[in-house]
Amino acid sequence: MQITIRRATLTDAATLSAISKQTFYDTFTGTCTEEDMQSFLEDNFNLKQVQAELINENDFYYLAETGGRVVGYFRFMEDYTNLPVMKQWKALELKRIYVIKEFQGKGIAGELMDYILHYAKENNFEVVWLGVWEHNLRAQKFYEKYSFVNSGHAHNFPIGNTPQTDWWFWKFL
Ligand SMILES: CC(C)(COP(=O)(O)OP(=O)(O)OC[C@H]1O[C@@H](n2cnc3c(N)ncnc32)[C@H](O)[C@@H]1OP(=O)(O)O)[C@@H](O)C(=O)NCCC(=O)NCCS
Repeated sequence: MQITIRRATLTDAATLSAISKQTFYDTFTGTCTEEDMQSFLEDNFNLKQVQAELINENDFYYLAETGGRVVGYFRFMEDYTNLPVMKQWKALELKRIYVIKEFQGKGIAGELMDYILHYAKENNFEVVWLGVWEHNLRAQKFYEKYSFVNSGHAHNFPIGNTPQTDWWFWKFL
């Protein structure tokens, strides 16, 4: 399957808002109440929020497309706010990587990860790090395939009133 990866622009805001909501819902539905889910989706992936992120040139959103259809996306940023211990390195936070459900298991995510790691090396990052829900074993397996390891650092990632714990995984380059 031929995949094109390109950086998203402001004109992609509506598409990104929709795919962010859809993929987050598909991944985490059932892990919290429907009410918590709906308010999380609206608070975090509303059009205005996505537009604000897209106009920040230090915030990198990329879309994966095939046959003119967006089938996945990722977002990364050099940002130390979520785990200040990372400041000792030049560190790239992979904030999101999602492939839509019907396109999972086809190797698309691997192409996205190759792109991210290439970008990180080209731009002299020393480490790539990311948060992953403690029970999201599929994603953890995927990251481990790319030699990410559990850093031992965890953080709270509540969805509304539902507490959840994410691990920080990292990969030194
Ligand atoms: C995690 C995700 C990006 C992986 O994408 P994918 O298209 O499923 O992955 P690929 O087909 O490229 O598979 C890559 C590797 O992931 C792992 N993997 C894939 N499906 C798996 C499954 N059902 N169970 C366990 N590991 C699995 C395997 O290591 C696989 O390598 P292999 O095919 O050599 O065994 C994708 O499943 C996804 O978008 N999930 C929902 C969103 C999500 O969880 N994002 C991460 C949030 S932290």
